[in-house]
Amino acid sequence: MTRYAHITGWGMAVPERVMTNDDLSKLVDTNDEWIRTRTGIKERRIADVKETTTSLAIEAAQRALEVANILPSEVDLVIVATSSAEYIFPATASLVQDAIGAEKAGAFDLYAACTGFVYALNVASQAVRTGSANTVLVIGAETMSRLVDWKDRGTCILFGDGAGAFVVQGSDTAGGILSSIMRSDGSGGDTLYVESYGRPRASGVGGLLNYAIYMDGKEVFRFATRIMAAVTKEAVAAAGLTLQDINIIIPHQANRRIIEAAARGLNQPEQKFMINIEKYGNTSSASIPIAECEAAERGKLKPNDRVVFVGFGAGLTWGAMAVHWDATPPPPLTTWQQITRRVQVGLAHARSYVRRGVRKVESRLLGSEEPIEKPPTKK
Ligand code: COA
Repeated sequence: MTRYAHITGWGMAVPERVMTNDDLSKLVDTNDEWIRTRTGIKERRIADVKETTTSLAIEAAQRALEVANILPSEVDLVIVATSSAEYIFPATASLVQDAIGAEKAGAFDLYAACTGFVYALNVASQAVRTGSANTVLVIGAETMSRLVDWKDRGTCILFGDGAGAFVVQGSDTAGGILSSIMRSDGSGGDTLYVESYGRPRASGVGGLLNYAIYMDGKEVFRFATRIMAAVTKEAVAAAGLTLQDINIIIPHQANRRIIEAAARGLNQPEQKFMINIEKYGNTSSASIPIAECEAAERGKLKPNDRVVFVGFGAGLTWGAMAVHWDATPPPPLTTWQQITRRVQVGLAHARSYVRRGVRKVESRLLGSEEPIEKPPTKK
């Protein structure tokens, strides 16, 4: 029997701290008027020292599980799309899996910059359709504020922090994710990048890593306006639909002018697009699920709608998917369901704590089983 991948839960989390354009103008030579007219951004959220990509991802994931009304123990796979993980490894997804108590789930991170969420959703959909997983938690989570150079007015005004999550579940009922397009053009990799540890450096081992975002804004702008309309059309056609069938387009929020250009390119009214860049700036892989959550909350995304998610970013990468939004808003959780959920999360924390303790005790008591041979000393 054919399996279909349906989106059954969604949730978002953003830091409390708001940074307005006026706040930014105290850090770099800029002003509210320039930022608003060139980008559409009015403010963004910035993580405090206690908030991390992982903590935001956990919060968004827990909300999405509540909406889908499933327990963490039912999750088969956790995928986190991120470019701002705290660790090269372990994957943020593993930390989320542990924290929420998804004890039967596999977990990995996916790097496709701002297109990451669309890519991750595609991978989740394939896993569900082939039967290798039935319930997948897909998260886009970022603390971009830790990647930007706060002295570079060309980039620091654009980005913000946040996370969004979807639950993708298998079913025999037709619908859900209808089509998915993934594209990349690595020849544009040098227009938007952040260096990492694997890059050989002239000074040899070590040395300070300059991990701030480099961006050729004009080039990225040109690329984005070129591909947004084209890939949206591709995803719609691959789903056997026309643009007239589409009720709402939820694009990556990078610049309001890019979205306006896409609307012109598609000959569609701007009202068909979900735009909330004014509140959050560009939250990279988190921007699409955050925009979806707000679209659902505002009643702009309704049950039975046909929706397109479209993203683009470093790589260069881009992608889009057409979805039959057949998720019905769930009834509020009963008291019993809320208690079960809290108990499961509490138990997950306790289990994780105990496991860490046991691992430490074991390594003290048993030591290394194999004697470690000392390397021969040079004479
Ligand atoms: N505040 C005030 N002035 C600024 C400024 C800022 N934050 N940033 C640049 N300027 C100045 C420039 O120095 C330039 O001054 P000049 O004319 O005296 O030389 C002028 O404003 C115009 O700069 P320009 O770079 O041409 O602006 P722009 O209209 O191309 O907008 C971006 C710049 C970055 C907003 C725009 O190119 C963009 O959004 N690009 C895409 C970026 C993106 O989406 N990245 C993420 C992809 S996932």
